[in-house]
Amino acid sequence: MEEGKKKEKILREQVIQAAIKYYEFKHKDSRQFFPGNRIPYAGRVFDEREIVNLIDSSLDFWLTTGRYAERFEREFAEFLGIQHCSLTNSGSSANLLALMALTSPKLGERRLKPGDEIITVAAGFPTTVAPAVQYGAVPVFVDVELPTYNIDCTQLEQALSVNSKGVMVAHTLGNPFDLQSVRSFCDRHNLWLIEDNCDALGSRYLYNGEWRYTGTIGHLGTSSFYPPHHMTMGEGGAVYTNDTTLKRLVESFRDWGRDCWCPSGRDNTCGNRFTQQFGELPHGYDHKYVYSHFGYNLKVTDMQAAIGCAQLDKLNGFIAARKKNWTQLRENLAELADLFILPEATVNSDPSWFGFLLTVREQAGFTREEIVNHLEMKGIQTRMLFAGNLIKHPCFDGMRRSGKGYRAVGSLENTDRIMHDTFWVGVYPGMSGDMIGYMSDTIRDYCTK
Ligand SMILES: Cc1ncc(COP(=O)(O)O)c(C=O)c1O
Repeated sequence: MEEGKKKEKILREQVIQAAIKYYEFKHKDSRQFFPGNRIPYAGRVFDEREIVNLIDSSLDFWLTTGRYAERFEREFAEFLGIQHCSLTNSGSSANLLALMALTSPKLGERRLKPGDEIITVAAGFPTTVAPAVQYGAVPVFVDVELPTYNIDCTQLEQALSVNSKGVMVAHTLGNPFDLQSVRSFCDRHNLWLIEDNCDALGSRYLYNGEWRYTGTIGHLGTSSFYPPHHMTMGEGGAVYTNDTTLKRLVESFRDWGRDCWCPSGRDNTCGNRFTQQFGELPHGYDHKYVYSHFGYNLKVTDMQAAIGCAQLDKLNGFIAARKKNWTQLRENLAELADLFILPEATVNSDPSWFGFLLTVREQAGFTREEIVNHLEMKGIQTRMLFAGNLIKHPCFDGMRRSGKGYRAVGSLENTDRIMHDTFWVGVYPGMSGDMIGYMSDTIRDYCTK
């Protein structure tokens, strides 16, 4: 090895060893849990390997998408058993890219146009719906079922109109929606299916007799790597697909709308950089600067991807811990079924749970607000099912008043019930058996006081 390289390797190793010491001093958590200590609903779980990757990448000082991003996209696609993964800077960006890819003129008649309809639900996270609204498409809301908290497939045919172009919906808190019904509905009516898989990484569904990861059954799937999620990069997201055309479109919208697909820092991957005709440009205009879409820049940095690579190695363990914690809570709280609607996995699914949902029954003798306040006071962090009913939020004020820009099928009774009576607590891998025990005891004690 030449002298300069040798020296660089030694210096890099010194920095990394110092970072490991820093991790052990500052972040390594060997504290014991005592009842009453704060139990967050979620959080990043990491060790020195994430920090080593982060430092390694920062020392490259490549900064933008690079070797770690390429590795992550390849290994994440392998994990999911899908052909293409495109990294992006958040789950919301992933949803935006998935939807915008469908607006490309390159899709001809199947293209999503302003005024076309996207079937979805209102009980969930806003950025599953926002991209459709931002583009000028019309969200059509159907109700959800309890106790799966997922789209009620019996309402799909009613939601259909001549303007329907797709279904875009999330697997609620890790519980897969009925993919068999939704995908066959989409196939029957020539609709696109986007699976918002941001809360469900590692969930599986028995589709046509084969166990597959959620996010890989629709035309496009999305992930979020924001810290509370199943794995993290700080900020980050991904879009995945088996369709090479859709992958190209996603990356075009992600990378400024360009037609070229060279990785950053590389030229002439297609071998036709100066020989093609586009639009009314002069023949041979540099393909690197040809724009087939009005795009964004939603790429990740290589530092984010470097953290993701270390997290991906731990993903199977994270998924197993989430399942174990959820199952433990479910068993501990089973006796409270007359006070709460307890969560149930969708038929033919194996969820990688994001959280544990509870809906307070009418006859419980306490309200959601009362029990949530009590749990928070006892140190147990709680969450709502995100928007509850998105249509009731200020962002919908204008549309609600005018009655334009969206449609709802029926009264969305369960969605409203969730908005009033539902909350959830965490099951993330940073939780110990003691914490799960304390959470269960605190909920039980409150209910039997
Ligand atoms: C279902 C769902 N979709 C999308 C997102 C957005 O992800 P991000 O926070 O990475 O933008 C979230 C965020 O938690 C989510 O829960």
